[in-house]
Amino acid sequence: MNGYLKIDPSRALSGTVELAGAKNAVLVTIASLVLTAGKSLLHNVPVSADVFEMMELLRHLGAVISFDTENHQLYADTTNLYSWRVSSVMMQKTRASILIMGALLARFGKAEIGGLPGGDAIGKRPIDYHLKNLAKMGVSFHHEGDYLCAEVATLQSARLVLEYPSVGATENIIMAATRAQGTTKIINAACEPEVFDFIACLRKMGAKITMQTPATITVEGVDVLHPVEHTIMCDRLEAGSLLIATAATGGEIIIPNASAEVLDVFLLKLEEMGHSITIGENGKGIHLKSTQSPQAVSIKTGPFPGFPTDLQAPMMMLQSIACGSCIIEETVFENRFHHAHELIKMGADIKIEHNKAFVTGVPHLYGTEVVAADIRASTALVIAGLVAHDTTIVHGLSHWKRGYESLEKKLQFLGAKIEVCEDGEENVILHEAKNVEKQVLK
Ligand code: UD1
Repeated sequence: MNGYLKIDPSRALSGTVELAGAKNAVLVTIASLVLTAGKSLLHNVPVSADVFEMMELLRHLGAVISFDTENHQLYADTTNLYSWRVSSVMMQKTRASILIMGALLARFGKAEIGGLPGGDAIGKRPIDYHLKNLAKMGVSFHHEGDYLCAEVATLQSARLVLEYPSVGATENIIMAATRAQGTTKIINAACEPEVFDFIACLRKMGAKITMQTPATITVEGVDVLHPVEHTIMCDRLEAGSLLIATAATGGEIIIPNASAEVLDVFLLKLEEMGHSITIGENGKGIHLKSTQSPQAVSIKTGPFPGFPTDLQAPMMMLQSIACGSCIIEETVFENRFHHAHELIKMGADIKIEHNKAFVTGVPHLYGTEVVAADIRASTALVIAGLVAHDTTIVHGLSHWKRGYESLEKKLQFLGAKIEVCEDGEENVILHEAKNVEKQVLK
């Protein structure tokens, strides 16, 4: 269970790399295959641990799934699903497991969920918006032992108002609404690019979904959804991580398949620091050339198109070696500052007050042993290791592997001295899965 990452001081990162498919788009898209009965094919699927967990979850429901990891193609046959029950063990594996609820209700009118979903320890992460709004669509809930059982004879359309634009709640409700009677409106819906990628896939299945301003998603229920072929969008959060790693080391990077329009506020902040950003034609392709005297900038996270909470941790790391002071305000999750304490161990000057981090740049960070408590914290600590004096050991390898497809290899290619040191069971799932997945469904 004790895999870790070992990082040594590295030269300025330099080169051209391509992004993998987006974790936050693929997991919900895999869940949505439950809405169809037949053979579907997803392209650009990242080979990350969370993908294997979602595949396993669908297998437990009766799906036949295989993953051609070399070609990033996932094949799923959802013809003979026979179960609507998800065990607590499965639920614990990934936060995205909760997204199966809307899909199961649409397919079977039933879902039995073994407890709360797992995932990153970045806050309370309740599911009340999911449950309240499904209830407004006619779903009744009761507990049987450890299981939360949801049931509905016919899903009803509704006008639903989210008090906060939750990504997961928006996605769950959309899935239920695709098979509801009538037209459902979701007001104050999440507008993350991953939600739109997911909607694009649902439309290919035959779902009738439109978007209106401000932040409203309208879903007209249909009788049947068809199997689908869909290409998952590229991972904007991996793009952000690579750009920050390059900026931290004073390097230069080109990411040809990154879209600038899904990273606008983030790119604005890098420019305000003094980094030079050039965008390719039609907003495709990002070229960053680092300044050698980065200025600290303040950020405040928020729902899209605001600064992404998933880039807050690596951005805090970048500010910790910039010139001057700044404030980092986290407004999405109430407990997303674990990484600050680990960065402080490495010499960063950070003071936390409630949901604000006051960061003053220091000339050097120092390598030591640190612990990553979530995916994005692991990114922040790895990047800190690239610029620290001496070796850094980052524990919590499982988080890194859940979030990214071999990001360490891309960093190595760019010049980073980073090694993945695996031991124990931590990577058993990934390895076993990779061996099994070789056989592709025809
Ligand atoms: C998704 C992303 C995650 C990202 C987050 C915010 C995936 C797999 N994960 O997570 O990477 O950081 O969006 O962009 O796509 N909330 C409630 N009640 C609810 C649901 C949410 O209070 O029922 C609160 C949460 O505690 C949090 C905020 O709403 O404070 C946003 O959460 P949400 O957008 O739902 O995040 P996830 O969908 O879990």
